[in-house]
Amino acid sequence: MTLDISSPGQAEQEIIQLRQQISHHNHRYYVLDEPDIPDGEYDKLYARLKSLELAFPHLITDDSPTQRVGGTPLKAFGQVRHELPMLSLDNAFNDDDQADFNRKIKERLNSTTEIEYSCEPKLDGIAVSLLYEDGRLVRAATRGDGTTGEDITRNIRTIAAVPLRLSGDDWPRRLEVRGEVYMPKSGFEQLNQRAKARGEKLFVNPRNAAAGSLRQLDPRITAQRPLTIYCYSVGIIEGGTLPDRHSEILACLGRWGLRVCPELKVVRGLAACEQYYQTMAEKRESLPYEIDGIVYKVNGIAEQQALGFVSRAPRWAIARKFPAQEAVTTLLNVEFQVGRTGAITPVARLQPVFVGGVTVSNATLHNMDELQRLDIKIGDSVVILRAGDVIPKVSRVVHSMRPDDARDIQFPDHCPACDSELEREEAILRCSGGLFCQAQRKEAIRHFASRKAMDIDGLGEKLVEQLVDRQLVSNVADLFLLTVEQVAGLERMGKKSAENLINALDRSKKTTLPRFIYALGIREVGESTAQALATHYQNLDKLMAASAGDLQRVDDVGPVVASHIEVFFQQEHNREVIAALLAQGVEGTVSAPAAEVGEQPLAGQTWVLTGTLHTMTRDEGKALLQRLGAKVSGSISASSYSSGR
Ligand code: IVH
Repeated sequence: MTLDISSPGQAEQEIIQLRQQISHHNHRYYVLDEPDIPDGEYDKLYARLKSLELAFPHLITDDSPTQRVGGTPLKAFGQVRHELPMLSLDNAFNDDDQADFNRKIKERLNSTTEIEYSCEPKLDGIAVSLLYEDGRLVRAATRGDGTTGEDITRNIRTIAAVPLRLSGDDWPRRLEVRGEVYMPKSGFEQLNQRAKARGEKLFVNPRNAAAGSLRQLDPRITAQRPLTIYCYSVGIIEGGTLPDRHSEILACLGRWGLRVCPELKVVRGLAACEQYYQTMAEKRESLPYEIDGIVYKVNGIAEQQALGFVSRAPRWAIARKFPAQEAVTTLLNVEFQVGRTGAITPVARLQPVFVGGVTVSNATLHNMDELQRLDIKIGDSVVILRAGDVIPKVSRVVHSMRPDDARDIQFPDHCPACDSELEREEAILRCSGGLFCQAQRKEAIRHFASRKAMDIDGLGEKLVEQLVDRQLVSNVADLFLLTVEQVAGLERMGKKSAENLINALDRSKKTTLPRFIYALGIREVGESTAQALATHYQNLDKLMAASAGDLQRVDDVGPVVASHIEVFFQQEHNREVIAALLAQGVEGTVSAPAAEVGEQPLAGQTWVLTGTLHTMTRDEGKALLQRLGAKVSGSISASSYSSGR
């Protein structure tokens, strides 16, 4: 690449310009979240700066955007003594605490008017101090114990949202900015997904991930972590002045290129503070970062100074915490619930505990693998996590608190709802009870009635619910025993709609073998597999008698599906339901191409399929020919067209 530069002076000019441009675009991208050029253009500017700096290394400065990541790993972090201590905050846990805080402030300030507060989310990250001298970032430190922290300058420099140089020129010559480094929720998810794919340990939450990332002695690792910052206060101010209201100071920080939380709101009085709390509590889940409460700060700097500090916390600010989202309780028992598809979910029965504003006494344990991952026993102390409206889950076990009499969890060997055998499929246990299982019944009936199955017009979800709940129907065969009177007695049903339903049920009896097989709801037997099975066996009896090995001779049927089919037909209650359906006059028990609607131009012809088909499987070819009315020789015996019953 030619640089096309005639003198070092010209190079210096261009380097300065490029740094300004790149800083501008960094600010738009990382601070404002509003890039104004495509990434490719940015990359070109960056590459040009890199090559100029390579050719003129003496022109490289510390605040060049190319110098964010560099150096070899440290042996240990240096210590930083904070010139002004980094304070913590007192907490308010309820409305009374908050009212006390407001009352004391009014008393101390001798104020008869409402106090002006800056309301801000309490960000769940790591507090840091950034020191700017002459507008350049010279040092960054952790809070540590408030008096002494660690020098994390090289790690902070890798965070693109932290300007290495402040914009404008009206900043104090020495300015310490304080804020919270955090990992956005989305970045955290991605980081953990990558860690999972590599078989590495996962981070517990975004705060831990941010803390771990800042504590890296090798800044190249920190550079790969999706960290960002919101600045929320200032420390040292020398060689310049700042506005006399906290919210205006933060607005200045924003103008100088620092990132400030846009949720900040200035309000007057206690009621407005509480209103802000409610609004943010509702917004919390949808924010792209984690917050654990609200910080209220007296907005006037003169008032802040008048109020002063007690021990390590200012009197002019308070953190109103959201109710805990995690709590520890005891696992009393584990029960097993049967889901709609027969999947068995272990559910933790807990000593009731208050988490995130509600009392939790049950939590999901997902599946068998999760039980192993948690290494959980009955009697254990467990941490319950409640994120928003999501079902509470057991996030971990406090193994150090395990009692001597903790008991192993017994996995069921039969369905807890219907006592059928269970099938194990990787981490999931599943009831093989199918149509018979109480818990699976509603779903099975809905599927049976669906358009591509028996196509029973008017038998919708609400109706199925009612029929099962009122014990009018306990399996699909019972549908055909319903009377107009029974159906007319249901909610939102009249005589007319009841008659319509009974007629639809009657009509549905004239179905085809593929539809009938599909309607049975055998696991992983979708429409096309049902079609292939019907074509292959031609007759329900033969299909029901087929072994798993034999079933695998059907196109698209592998060992897993074959076993599902075999197990399904071996279940006595499934056989009973099928027998009952046939007894009610359901006719889809033989493959009857003539029953399929549509033209039959090949009627009366016999076809033989040989060789390889390119656009469909053999069975599909056969099925197609049959639908068109042809007989397919070599696969159809004389008895195939007579009912097996
Ligand atoms: S102001 C003297 N504002 O909360 C006031 N702190 O419990 C100093 N925090 O160490 C802090 N969000 O890490 C302030 N908007 C916010 C904050 C915030 C989170 C953290 C900060 C501090 C801790 C105090």
